[in-house]
Amino acid sequence: MSTLESILKETRSFSPSDDFRQKAIVSGMESYNTLCEQANQDYEAFWANLARELITWHKPFSRVLDDSAAPFFKWFDDGELNVSYNCLDRHLAQHGHSTAIIFEADDGKVSHVSYSELHRRVCLFANGLKSLNIGKGDRVIIYMPMGVEAVVAMQACARIGAIHSVVFGGFSAGAVRDRIADTAARLVITANEGLRGGKSVPLKATVDEALTLEGCDTVEHVVVYQRTNGGAHWQEGRDIWWHKLIEGQSEQCEPEWMNAEDPLFILYTSGSTGKPKGIQHSCGGYLLGATNSFRWVFDYKPGDVYWCTADVGWITGHSYICYGPLANAATQVIFEGIPTYPDAARFWRMIEQHKVSIFYTAPTAIRSLIKLGADLPKEYDLSSLRLLGTVGEPINPEAWMWYYETVGGSRCPIVDTWWQTETGSIQIAPLPGAVATKPGSCTLPLPGVIADIVDESGAPVEPGSGGFLVIKKPFPSLVRTIWNDPERFKKTYFPEEFNGQYYLAGDSAHRDENGYVWIMGRVDDVLNVSGHRLGTMEIESALVANPLVAEAAVVGKPHDVKGEAVVAFVVLKGARPTGEAAKKMAAELKNWVAHEIGKIAQPDDIRFGENLPKTRSGKIMRRLLRSIAKGEAITQDTSTLENPQILDQLAEPL
Ligand code: PRX
Repeated sequence: MSTLESILKETRSFSPSDDFRQKAIVSGMESYNTLCEQANQDYEAFWANLARELITWHKPFSRVLDDSAAPFFKWFDDGELNVSYNCLDRHLAQHGHSTAIIFEADDGKVSHVSYSELHRRVCLFANGLKSLNIGKGDRVIIYMPMGVEAVVAMQACARIGAIHSVVFGGFSAGAVRDRIADTAARLVITANEGLRGGKSVPLKATVDEALTLEGCDTVEHVVVYQRTNGGAHWQEGRDIWWHKLIEGQSEQCEPEWMNAEDPLFILYTSGSTGKPKGIQHSCGGYLLGATNSFRWVFDYKPGDVYWCTADVGWITGHSYICYGPLANAATQVIFEGIPTYPDAARFWRMIEQHKVSIFYTAPTAIRSLIKLGADLPKEYDLSSLRLLGTVGEPINPEAWMWYYETVGGSRCPIVDTWWQTETGSIQIAPLPGAVATKPGSCTLPLPGVIADIVDESGAPVEPGSGGFLVIKKPFPSLVRTIWNDPERFKKTYFPEEFNGQYYLAGDSAHRDENGYVWIMGRVDDVLNVSGHRLGTMEIESALVANPLVAEAAVVGKPHDVKGEAVVAFVVLKGARPTGEAAKKMAAELKNWVAHEIGKIAQPDDIRFGENLPKTRSGKIMRRLLRSIAKGEAITQDTSTLENPQILDQLAEPL
């Protein structure tokens, strides 16, 4: 309720300038409304036209949407294409010499890669993969630092029809193992080390550790890119250096022509159980979603320099680094590192140096940079910027206004883009040359996105009331299934409560009197920490896997930089620790979670109790734990609580 009330007070609105609107790809509300109308009148023709206009098909499709096995929808399913061909080859004649990637490394070193050079590197590496007998349908784990090679590895997989599954470089050996085991991957691509903020990240050592764990015996080879001079433990026969693999390979590699419905990649994301879900995307529909939304939302035009600060380990790095920009022959900046190294001016310096015109980042980064130097942007020439974007979590109006005024000089529209790993591409966001923005709202659905906010029975809610965000019609870039778990796919995303008809996003939202969407947060047990999705159950499973832990419950608490922070309530098998012993134990458990999942899942706060607050039927009362985590006095009814006295224990800070 507090989110709802505070947001409803937000009345500021910002229209694009006449100049911006006139030059925009979708120019003015009339154009936006016309597109929406076209989608309403003939939904399939709307998508088919875009698919023909934006994608180069090897074999044209004759069917558009097949919903005969709903909710396992198929799009363009008798068409054939290759995603890498669409991102590279088709641009070579006109854009071969254009810059595809401006890469800035952790130490500030800059390199430029043209489209023809990127094509050459992808072909070399794709041929290298083929020499390892990797081909269509094989699963490949990519565990790489940010950089050109990460993109090359993904594009090379797409080129030969192998299904990549990128694992964020901050995840631990346990997470790498889970993804190898679930996909039965035959190959892992990694680097000896990564570099982040001046520190090395032991990627190869983590892969080595993962491969000693159960379930990884499908892996035949590990390809290792030499990022640093640091060495790597070597297993002869299994491990191969990237540079050796491409030695003597041909610079031409005929793309594998794929059916539009063939999987392009699997990306794991957290849900409400302990096991992350393998979100499976298709070649055709996904590429259309990424390509079209990039053009509409970022209004990319030749001459622009686009920079998305995400990591390829997340969906944003897939759709808006690896695929969307390249399919549009865009010039983009990619960076290795963190926003605060070598100092908090890294972003502003890079925007000035590379003349970035479109800048896309996360609210958490914005908030942390406000904290570390709200006036720093003023010391740099940011006049090249014309459009700003945010993704991953709600942005608070204060941070939005700072971004608008201090970074964008009050002249750049901000596209607050709502979407998910599952939707593959942006669904709700202002088209910047048409839709006026309001700080904190992701505004209106893209044309062709039939979004609504409904109550438990599936009926639309009144403006101002909160409800479940749903998408009522399938769209091309929607997740196809959960890898290995179609039942979970059906139950999670197309639940019976809505007759299996609506895609349930898992977010709550409300709409204002102008139809603008305001996202309120997740309705499931998923936390959003620094824009990263974490399942509370996943962290609980990691905690109870520790031999000393009997039980654990994890909740989120508001955090001014991260958005949400993780708080864990833990019951040990032995006595409840207090004083120094409790502090020591908490530190040990934080390290344990970092080792089991990754540092991003580490609790900020751990509390110990002799028990957890439970109802008489044994259910953990999470809403009480959320109040305790926030440090609020308990005002809720605790009469159904089996053991009220433990609330005091759990409220006690370490
Ligand atoms: O809760 C929403 C939040 O992030 C979730 C999706 O997380 P993930 O699959 O990791 O993808 C993040 C990058 C697309 C959503 O269910 N979210 C994403 N974008 C926004 C957002 N919440 C509010 N505003 C947004 N713009």
